[in-house]
Amino acid sequence: MEFEQLVKIRRSIRGYREAGISDADLREIFSCARMAPSWKNSQTGRYYVALSEEAIKEVYDCLPDFNQKSSANAAYIVATFKKGISGFSNGMPTDLSGDIWGGYDLGLQNAYLLFKASELGFDTLIMGLRDEDRLRKYFSIPEDEIILPVIAIGKRSKDAVERVRKEADEIMTIR
Ligand SMILES: Cc1cc2nc3c(=O)[nH]c(=O)nc-3n(C[C@H](O)[C@H](O)[C@H](O)COP(=O)(O)O)c2cc1C
Repeated sequence: MEFEQLVKIRRSIRGYREAGISDADLREIFSCARMAPSWKNSQTGRYYVALSEEAIKEVYDCLPDFNQKSSANAAYIVATFKKGISGFSNGMPTDLSGDIWGGYDLGLQNAYLLFKASELGFDTLIMGLRDEDRLRKYFSIPEDEIILPVIAIGKRSKDAVERVRKEADEIMTIR
């Protein structure tokens, strides 16, 4: 699929009829995500996928009401990154941003993940609001990983609402 087309169809979808995703689909998606750039190729992103009925219910229960409604029937991906690596040198942050660089890398990787999912016919919703402690416990996520979003993934039952974006000239400065 053309990149422009992917950008167009990738939307935050808040209504799913089913997850409909297999281990093989997930392997394709993560094979693409791992190609994203990262600080010194440190590749600190990690993912925990809820695919079984039990795991899906557990992650669902970690979400606030409105995110539960939006993501019901989907599967879930919990995205984390190993802290203290990206943006660090000899164990020390190289600038004031510290672990923000790890979050930056994870965001890039997640973008690859979202576009690959779209190409394969899946819809997604990034959710920043979630019960982090409960997710850590359920998936046994190590303490050296920072948990960022839960991403719902599945087949849409509803289209997205119209979106408004700033113009290119509003977000760039050329000197
Ligand atoms: C870091 C992050 C956190 C988000 N958290 C939520 C969330 O908790 N619930 C939700 O419905 N959407 C959430 N979104 C989705 C945004 O609202 C959405 O990307 C934005 O409105 C633009 O719409 P689009 O993705 O369809 O282009 C989040 C997006 C990002 C990048």
